[in-house]
Amino acid sequence: MLTSQELLNDPRVAQAKELLLAALRDHSQKITGVRPGREEHRTEYADALTRLANARGGAPYFPYISSGLGNGPWVELGDGSVKLDFIVGIGVHGLGHSHPAMLNATIDAGLEDTIMQGNLQHDAYSLAMCERLIGLAKKFEAPLDHCLLSTSGAMANENALKIAFHSRFPATRVICMDNCFAGRSMALAQLTDRPAYRMGLPKTLDVDFIPMFHPSDPDGTTRGAMEMLQKHLARHPGEYACIWLELVAGEGGYYPGTKEYFEGLCRVCHDNNVLVIFDEVQTFTRLSQPFAFQHFGLDAYADLVTLGKITQVCATLYGDQLKPKGPILSQTFTGATASIRAGLAVLDILEEKGCFGEKGWNMERHVYFAKKLQALAERNPGKLSGPYGEGMMIAFTPGDGSAETAKTMLQRLYDLGLMGFLAGSNPNRIRFLPPPGITTHEHIDIACEIIERALSESN
Ligand SMILES: Cc1ncc(COP(=O)(O)O)c(C=O)c1O
Repeated sequence: MLTSQELLNDPRVAQAKELLLAALRDHSQKITGVRPGREEHRTEYADALTRLANARGGAPYFPYISSGLGNGPWVELGDGSVKLDFIVGIGVHGLGHSHPAMLNATIDAGLEDTIMQGNLQHDAYSLAMCERLIGLAKKFEAPLDHCLLSTSGAMANENALKIAFHSRFPATRVICMDNCFAGRSMALAQLTDRPAYRMGLPKTLDVDFIPMFHPSDPDGTTRGAMEMLQKHLARHPGEYACIWLELVAGEGGYYPGTKEYFEGLCRVCHDNNVLVIFDEVQTFTRLSQPFAFQHFGLDAYADLVTLGKITQVCATLYGDQLKPKGPILSQTFTGATASIRAGLAVLDILEEKGCFGEKGWNMERHVYFAKKLQALAERNPGKLSGPYGEGMMIAFTPGDGSAETAKTMLQRLYDLGLMGFLAGSNPNRIRFLPPPGITTHEHIDIACEIIERALSESN
């Protein structure tokens, strides 16, 4: 037996774990619903928020500093208030707050020899995570053989871009959909269809855009995207390395495309030696299949796929024929030991809970939430439209969809105890990324009650 196994089998470890898990459970279960902040914490909390704004060079979007404890989708803040968290760090905390499986994974990680994993020295769980992601990706035979771990969605996307350019050298151009978001690096700022996010930054890449699918004109937008793609390919023959696709536009406003829309584009790209990259940093595990490309039946086109957020560690998946011929990829950190262990535990629970499948838990809760939002729209004409999105990515448009209306509504929801976030522009929407491992109908009911209360106070 390895000495490390002897440590794990030491009865003191099991005992300590049991004690910690019991203590967490006893205290976490006191957090059961929305509550306001407490007077005795008011001054200290306000001071902490001011110091946070100073330290980070600007106030955070929400006046949010967690107390460090929660219970499922409920999170306690430093002022003693409790919020219903339906945005979970923009899709990160897939089991909500203070989940015992996260503590368990973290204790195991804490007993490991190092806090961080990296490309020079890997532990067995880094291997397990890579194999797990490759296995999930190959469920329907997508040609994805390799997996590189990284610490952010942006880095996963940078790695994907590097592999694509390297493989299609000397091509230098990228095709993206209108309204897409790829991350905050210098290269990804060019892919992201938000001029404000490139303000004052030099141009690093040549990117051309095609219209995204729009449900108001399915045929027109599908045809329009194809025509624009053909035009770009004809104008810059041999210059495109890849097309970059978000299968549900996330930051862009929760617009899912369709199989027909994507398949046509992917086919033309492959015919023109242009690689297809699916950015699944936000969609991963939120639709009817672990990967959105599986949900839309696009496995054959998945040349490169990136994911992150809910996995606690990010990754780039790619096929063997794209294996770089030089040392263009590496990082000191692939992920924190605890992140990798926790990510594996999240995947276990999502699978155990039956999140996937056409009638799986993700889609079932989407239907439930969507019906409730639909009913709210009918009861509150002009104040809410929607729902939009797919699976455990769901949004609505408040009122006239102006930036002002959406911000006011988001703030109101926060004050009433529900956390969501903005998405899109013209219209501006409010989106939710409920934690897929633990969200129940009851939580959705409470979210909708809060939305209705906020609507009743709006003009
Ligand atoms: C689709 C998509 N790609 C990439 C990213 C960037 O990920 P990160 O913020 O971890 O760098 C995000 C983040 O929101 C995203 O939604």
